[in-house]
Amino acid sequence: MHIFKWIMGILSFIIITPLLIFADEAMFKIKCSKCHPLPSPLSYSNEEWNRIIDRMAVNAKLTAAEKGFILTLNTTLIPK
Ligand code: HEC
Repeated sequence: MHIFKWIMGILSFIIITPLLIFADEAMFKIKCSKCHPLPSPLSYSNEEWNRIIDRMAVNAKLTAAEKGFILTLNTTLIPK
């Protein structure tokens, strides 16, 4: 029953991906608005985000995974 595994795989992808994005966005909102208003992802280019997240990861004490998530959110998921 390979088809069943395929369907389960696709279904979990469809359900889990938005949850991950949702959790990721919530983390961005909480961790990046402690010291200043939350910057809009659209305010900076992808190159600028790379540089900014590197600097702000230290300020916000992000783990490597959190840093990766926030960077992906502000570049790949919200392309400019
Ligand atoms: C501990 C406080 C603190 C936290 C937490 C923090 N920032 Fe900042 N942020 C600052 C300060 C101070 C500045 C202004 C000085 C500077 O640019 O380094 C700044 C500036 C910025 C700027 C403007 C940079 C520029 O070059 O114009 C952006 C964008 C930014 N932060 C994004 C973020 C993001 C995204 C996060 C979450 C990962 C975050 N900040 C978390 C303190 C913080």
